[in-house]
Amino acid sequence: MTRPIILLCGDITHAQKEWEELSSFAELREVPIETREEFLDDCKTGKYDGVVAIFHTYMSARYVGLYNKELIQALPESVKFICHNGAGYDQIDPVACMERGIQVSNTPEVVNNATANVAMMLMLAGLRRSTMAEKNLRNEKFRGDIVPGYDPEGLTVGIIGMGGIGSAFSVRAKAFEMNIIYHNNNPVSDERNPADAKYVSMDELLETSDVISISCPLNASTRGLIGKSQFDKMKDNVVIINTARGPIIDEQALVDALASGKVFSAGLDVFEKEPTVHPELLKNDNVTLFPHIGTFTEQTLYKLELKVLANIKSGFETGSLITQVAEQRK
Ligand SMILES: *[C@@H]1O[C@H](CO)[C@@H](O)[C@H](O)[C@H]1NC(C)=O
Ligand SMILES: *[C@@H]1O[C@H](CO)[C@@H](O)[C@H](O)[C@H]1NC(C)=O
Ligand SMILES: *[C@@H]1O[C@H](CO)[C@@H](O)[C@H](O)[C@H]1NC(C)=O
Repeated sequence: MTRPIILLCGDITHAQKEWEELSSFAELREVPIETREEFLDDCKTGKYDGVVAIFHTYMSARYVGLYNKELIQALPESVKFICHNGAGYDQIDPVACMERGIQVSNTPEVVNNATANVAMMLMLAGLRRSTMAEKNLRNEKFRGDIVPGYDPEGLTVGIIGMGGIGSAFSVRAKAFEMNIIYHNNNPVSDERNPADAKYVSMDELLETSDVISISCPLNASTRGLIGKSQFDKMKDNVVIINTARGPIIDEQALVDALASGKVFSAGLDVFEKEPTVHPELLKNDNVTLFPHIGTFTEQTLYKLELKVLANIKSGFETGSLITQVAEQRK
């Protein structure tokens, strides 16, 4: 009897032992680093026949690219589950998967605290413009010519996307005595709103926030959500935080809004053309830039991998995934 195959598309760094335990019921195989053409070709020639589940990582897209309709249709008939490591699953088209009878899962909740902590770091760095201060110090100018920053207490922070990360961020913002408002496609339940943030329209959020923090998923309706006309509506000296996905902000429009003085500072963990960063952002010491480290902690990386493995196991044992993505649950 041939054993079902689980394909690892990317790396496992923390739950190696638990990954190997899956070999009790399946053959484990790793995709070698190959280009999209090579991967598609290998699918065509039957190299991946018998693969039932795919462990998918964000970084694997550097080689194989997006799991869009083209790639999903090329996958072998045997594939039933694609289990993504990460909360944002914009690299995978869930509708094209559904058409092929493939279930997709992500890893919500386990990312919340670590990502909200990074949003907090970026917000405080933005309010103080600490990157410039640190750069001056390292250049032996100590404070140099920095200007004073702002205290968070009493400022209004607008959260775009009140999911798990937005919610965890709101709890942190409350501890800093900020006035918290949010926009979401719908108002969220009390459970999702522990800091009692006020639901407002997108325009009200743009017009009244001192800090805007983005934590919504990237999809067709949020791509370019924050562009020139949105920056124009914002208060002068606004601070922009993005820990979600780069393409939600039109990066050129942000660069222009920084140059005009509309935006006081920005804190970015994600970029429009990752891993490439807009050269004007790289040069600008008024912004703090992180290389997409939202969930990059020992504990959270481990929890993320365990969550992917739990989904794969559930797929084999029950036929359905634990945290199947929203588009497939409608
Ligand atoms: C996140 O932090 C909250 C407390 O702020 C805690 O209750 C929860 O268990 C943490 N979540 C994870 C996944 O560690
Ligand atoms: C994109 O995500 C938002 C926020 O979850 C959701 O309201 C919207 O329906 C999604 N749009 C598409 C086109 O999937
Ligand atoms: C950084 O902020 C300072 C002080 O507000 C401003 O004079 C300068 O033009 C800004 N730099 C850039 C590159 O936007």
